[in-house]
Amino acid sequence: MLKDKKIILGITGSIAAYKAAYLIRALVKKGAEVQVVITPAGKEFITPLTLSTLSRRPVISEFFSNRDGSWHSHVDLGIWADAMLIAPATAATLGKMAHGIADNMLITTYLSCKAPVFAAPAMDLDMFAHPATQHSINMLRSFGNHIIEPAVGELASRLEGKGRMEEPERIVEYLENFFATQGVLQKKKILITAGPTYERIDPVRFVGNYSSGKMGFALAEECARRGAAVTLVSGPVSLSAKHPDIKRIDTESAEEMYRASTEAFPDVDAAILCAAVADYRPATICGEKIKREDRGDITLHLTANRDIAASLGAMKRKGQTLAGFALETNDEITHAESKLRKKNFDFIVLNSLRDTGAGFGTDTNRISILDNKGELTDYPLKSKQEAAVDIVNKLISLMK
Ligand code: CTP
Repeated sequence: MLKDKKIILGITGSIAAYKAAYLIRALVKKGAEVQVVITPAGKEFITPLTLSTLSRRPVISEFFSNRDGSWHSHVDLGIWADAMLIAPATAATLGKMAHGIADNMLITTYLSCKAPVFAAPAMDLDMFAHPATQHSINMLRSFGNHIIEPAVGELASRLEGKGRMEEPERIVEYLENFFATQGVLQKKKILITAGPTYERIDPVRFVGNYSSGKMGFALAEECARRGAAVTLVSGPVSLSAKHPDIKRIDTESAEEMYRASTEAFPDVDAAILCAAVADYRPATICGEKIKREDRGDITLHLTANRDIAASLGAMKRKGQTLAGFALETNDEITHAESKLRKKNFDFIVLNSLRDTGAGFGTDTNRISILDNKGELTDYPLKSKQEAAVDIVNKLISLMK
């Protein structure tokens, strides 16, 4: 999968920089072309001579070449690459990438890069866990970058914890898998619902839920990355879709989402219903703001919304694949099984609110997938981006 792939390898100032030598060797062995861009601090840990010998290309570090007055074009490099991999990525580099602080050749190259970007963090456990680092990582993910999570183990500080750069073989596997799955959904159309719905009470209030839309947006990006034309029907969220093949339709209420989804569904090959749709809405919407005055308690009369999933399940024709989600707090499998059947899903993704790190608002998810043949697979806690990869893999296996 990596044959003839052009890869920019960014190396930063971490003790794990020595592993970059193994990484280059593994990439070159697979047929990739590797162009190293190293930060000044990176050169304290590994010499450019080692890196240029292994990559068979001069190493780039500065904007200008000392000898002949020429300059290195980060723009050309960014266009040349099929992928940019920053390994090891220090806390400082992640922070600069997140904020666009382009004070070295590596960051300018990153900002110019049109290709997918992967970063493999390496640092001490407390630095990794620090909210500033986690914030940078979350920002980078939200820009569509891929974070190759560090492993847990012994660190250079002799402390034990999460922060060791992932092993070079695993990083290569990650890239191989990325390229292997690119384009497999070419010519397929996929509908995704995401986010919460807001059901109006009066001009300033609504009934809603905590869904952030992150899981649905991650699914849309993953499907588009694999070549699908995606229709993303979203409730009110503060997220943006990155991939040009994602057509986003914004909705507010369950009824609007119902209309957009039922209209799009006949034309798609598959749908993943990730939205947390409100089951009920206020029976009447007050035209004016409800005043406190001396009313005492008030009662909100709620009426049932239509079930989008069940409607699409009933509409489903041969050749279409339908997947849904279930967020449960108790008797998870039993509830998921009954939703799978009631809504005519091909598979259902189960989250339990009992799992820390799973569900609404978080950047991670722990999912189980149950399919209509009764096969149940549990996955470990992962980023929502990585969980999206597992879900789309399942979808593709059933679409075949
Ligand atoms: N769903 C939908 N339309 C609704 C309600 C739910 O499309 N009006 C979809 C969700 O997107 C999800 C699945 O149905 O894929 C299950 O949603 P969930 O809220 O867990 O199930 P409900 O059927 O609403 O059951 P309950 O609230 O009783 O758990």
